[in-house]
Amino acid sequence: MKFLAGLILGLLVVPLGVYLYFSSGSAPVATTDSDMPFEHMLAHKALAARITKDMPKTVPIQPTEANLLAGADLYKQHCAVCHGLPLTPKSAIAAGIYPHPPLLLEGKGVTDDEPGESYWKIFNGIRLSGMPGFSKSLSETQMWQVALLVANADKLPPSAKTALVTPAGVTVPTTLPSPSPVPPPPPFPSPSTPK
Ligand code: HEC
Repeated sequence: MKFLAGLILGLLVVPLGVYLYFSSGSAPVATTDSDMPFEHMLAHKALAARITKDMPKTVPIQPTEANLLAGADLYKQHCAVCHGLPLTPKSAIAAGIYPHPPLLLEGKGVTDDEPGESYWKIFNGIRLSGMPGFSKSLSETQMWQVALLVANADKLPPSAKTALVTPAGVTVPTTLPSPSPVPPPPPFPSPSTPK
């Protein structure tokens, strides 16, 4: 009888404690708050378990120079704002995100992860973190190209390295375009007289 009462009390106390923790405003919700107890451990365990189950085990494209160059271009457009570029200070956006986006082109980045693991993260994103999923905006080939770029960040061909440090959208023109003539402004409409 005592055991049963203890069991029921135990079953109630834990969920109640968890509920109070969240409902009383103690749980960390701001990006600058400190970690919740076990947050890192639980989040990483959950993510790692899901990825091991789900990630593609074979890579459908090769890390050729063309694919890495395409990956570099995609990275500049879609990833650099959070994950950084060589020789460029961290953006204001990256500085304010929690969990912090790791620098993927510095140190070992994710060069020790399987490309399939990064592909999974690029495809799906990482929930409750700033990491967006790109399955709705990039093609599978594009996601593989950028996954191969980050997997090979420590051994990129010079062309891809140059592409990464050239600002996005800048193509160095061989001849300067002649300025197009500016059309004269339309005549100012005369105010209609109210009746
Ligand atoms: C808005 C910011 C943002 C953008 C844009 C973004 N990411 Fe992320 N990314 C994050 C954050 C934050 C994390 C860390 C998540 C965590 O720790 O749980 C992350 C994690 C990752 C990881 C896992 C890193 C690790 O150490 O395991 C990879 C790989 C990654 N991003 C690749 C990319 C690629 C490739 C792109 C562009 C196609 C991209 N991300 C765009 C914010 C971003």
